[in-house]
Amino acid sequence: MTTTIDPAAADEAGRRDALADRLLKSMIGSAELASVWLGLRLHLYEALRKGGPATMAELSARAGIDARYAREWLEQQAVAGLLDVEDVAADAGTRRYRLPEAHADVLLDADNPAHAGATAYWIGSLAEVLHRVPGIYRSGEGLPYPEYGADCRLAIANFNRPMFVNDLAGWFAAVPELEARLEAEGARALDVGCGIGWSSISLAKAFPSLRVDGIDSDEASITEAQRLAAEAGVADRVRFRVVDAAELGAAGEGGYAAAFIFEALHDMARPVEALEAVRALLAADGVVIVADEKVAETFTAPGDEVERLNFAFSWWHCLPASRAETPSVASGTALRPATVREWSEAAGFASLRVLPVDHLFWRFYQLAG
Ligand SMILES: C[S@@+](CC[C@H](N)C(=O)[O-])C[C@H]1O[C@@H](n2cnc3c(N)ncnc32)[C@H](O)[C@@H]1O
Repeated sequence: MTTTIDPAAADEAGRRDALADRLLKSMIGSAELASVWLGLRLHLYEALRKGGPATMAELSARAGIDARYAREWLEQQAVAGLLDVEDVAADAGTRRYRLPEAHADVLLDADNPAHAGATAYWIGSLAEVLHRVPGIYRSGEGLPYPEYGADCRLAIANFNRPMFVNDLAGWFAAVPELEARLEAEGARALDVGCGIGWSSISLAKAFPSLRVDGIDSDEASITEAQRLAAEAGVADRVRFRVVDAAELGAAGEGGYAAAFIFEALHDMARPVEALEAVRALLAADGVVIVADEKVAETFTAPGDEVERLNFAFSWWHCLPASRAETPSVASGTALRPATVREWSEAAGFASLRVLPVDHLFWRFYQLAG
């Protein structure tokens, strides 16, 4: 007897199995990322790095946590491949766990190019707001940025920090006329939507005579930025203020050689007004550099990982946060080049060009005129 296979039914079954498998893996991945959040929050990885391999009782004592929970977290981390176990066959009380140095770089070294510990802070922020999202999806309201919590500020800042600290000087080496502008005697730059300030600090370090004004509408971010600039020893050249970019006109001094908007234009409720205000503060030959998401030119589905990354945050964070203001263009994270061009023209800029900066996540636009 021969069996006929219906290709359409086989295809349906294949898709069903693939999705079920994908969701199961996502569930494991999400819960494991949350366990990384806990390890960071309670300084458990730091305790293992500083004190060396530990048993459950030693970690409990070092980190000041309950011993049974210490055992659970250590076993889970080892099973997930995040920690190594020195003696798998030993009993639970004497088994020692070690944080591999390569994993310490990723989890703990915020300046390391491989740093990815910040990804776990997104889970903390999501936990702050998730149960409010169904309500706003019904009502159409937004969720104010401060309500995403300290974990949100840290997640954004530490995700971008290694790029600013390690790569920023190289980005501008690819654009010599901009580099010369920033190196000029007495040059000043404006960093719009600066968050907790790593871009402003990195600009000041890359260009030793540059003075940088960082502005952000989020008060907690600016307080942290001021602390970090002092700690980095650049507070004499880097100032921070709480200002909405769309209201900059009233507060700004003007004469900037360049203004930067790093991954913040898509978050603004009134981006055209913000660009207009920034344009009015530029020196005669000043430029605005917008670094925003390197999404496709047009909507495509299914999307690649960059597209997925951006939509993964847009639905619960960037879009609701920008809709907390009224009016709002309600851009969402996936800011496409045609929209940047449209906003740039509406703000009065005569030219827009995409700069030859090699970046995995961002496209760099130069607005002038
Ligand atoms: C994704 S974060 C990027 C922060 C920083 N530039 C970085 O790359 O790490 C976006 C920032 O834009 C700020 N922001 C949003 N709307 C703003 C506005 N209208 N004026 C000033 N800052 C704004 C937010 O408070 C937030 O700090």
